[in-house]
Amino acid sequence: MTTVHKESSPTEIRFAYWVPNVSGGLVVSNIEQRTDWGIDYNRRLAQAAERNGFDYALSQIRFTAGYGAEYQHESVSFSHAILAATDKIKVIAAILPGPWKPALAAKQLATIDQLTNGRIAVNIVSGWFKGEFDAIGEEWPEHDERYVRSEEFIRSLKGIWTQDNFSFDGKYYQFKDYTLKPKPLQQHPEIFQGGSSRAARDMAARVSDWYFTNGNSVEGIKAQVDDIREKAKANNHHVKIGVNAFIIARDTEEQAQAVLQEIIAKANPEAVNAFGDATREAGAASPEGEGNWAKSTFDDLVQYNDGFKTNLIGTPQQVAERIVALKAVGVDLVLAAFLHFIEEVEYFGEKVLPLIRELEAQQKAQLEEAV
Ligand SMILES: Cc1cc2nc3c(=O)[nH]c(=O)nc-3n(C[C@H](O)[C@H](O)[C@H](O)COP(=O)(O)O)c2cc1C
Repeated sequence: MTTVHKESSPTEIRFAYWVPNVSGGLVVSNIEQRTDWGIDYNRRLAQAAERNGFDYALSQIRFTAGYGAEYQHESVSFSHAILAATDKIKVIAAILPGPWKPALAAKQLATIDQLTNGRIAVNIVSGWFKGEFDAIGEEWPEHDERYVRSEEFIRSLKGIWTQDNFSFDGKYYQFKDYTLKPKPLQQHPEIFQGGSSRAARDMAARVSDWYFTNGNSVEGIKAQVDDIREKAKANNHHVKIGVNAFIIARDTEEQAQAVLQEIIAKANPEAVNAFGDATREAGAASPEGEGNWAKSTFDDLVQYNDGFKTNLIGTPQQVAERIVALKAVGVDLVLAAFLHFIEEVEYFGEKVLPLIRELEAQQKAQLEEAV
């Protein structure tokens, strides 16, 4: 019997990084980027990340893109390749209900879980890009309906992974006495989801293990965390929270700010505007008009998931303090993107992470003293 990968201490904030499995890096800018979307670079990156304190890597799913990210490797097979090149890190594979069906996803991920000592996880993506669905001949249910389908998808995955003779009678998916063998090695692979809209939050508060938000200020994040935690509590459910951030840590604040300014100055306006147009199909199209990108400016959209807004841009000390402030409002994980991934993951592990762990230890000691 093999042992399952141990997570880092539950009292410590955790880190994930975006797998650059699509071309163009994580900013829509012509600035020089030493990040590469190929497998050799990604294997080295994953190895560097697990040496430098990252617990998770998140791969992306794209079938097409009209705004940069022109080449895209498929997420599940790419995640498996990264897992095969590492020992500890968990890889979260993105899956889109629609092209994927839950029976296939459950089986595919259970096999990968068996092959990788229980290190696969999944990000259920509800979709925001109608042009992509049109291009591949998939139906495009309206905004909230996409979440109805995703929730049934998640309930199906969990049922298949944890029960024998699983039956389910949903609007989108039906199962009858289905028994998956072998089941995953883990009790079930962790289920992540993203979004900001009411429908996205409500789904997280009912069924997801983890909820990813776009980047935002500490106050903005706190409002989302409080909202989701309250709803989840009413459902007798616990959901952990991950926040997106584009991290620019440099020896001086001026250097870090200069990098940000250069990224924005060299943004590709056509691609950023095309991305902005495509995002109108996401949360802004939801009944309450909230959601991902509903309030994003041109500068925000230069980073696909509003990562500059989280403001992890500055010296190692400044970045560490802001991360601990996010933890204080209930954030469990920071999902990081970088300009030059490998070198910056190493800088983060060497210079920033030790400061974070120090600050966390100080806070713990203060709390214990106060008791
Ligand atoms: C961290 C994170 C990762 C995501 N990864 C993907 C992805 O790989 N592919 C994709 O099409 N959408 C991805 N999304 C988009 C979401 O799944 C969802 O469709 C989008 O956030 C719309 O949310 P809304 O309902 O709040 O507008 C991601 C979102 C977040 C926050």
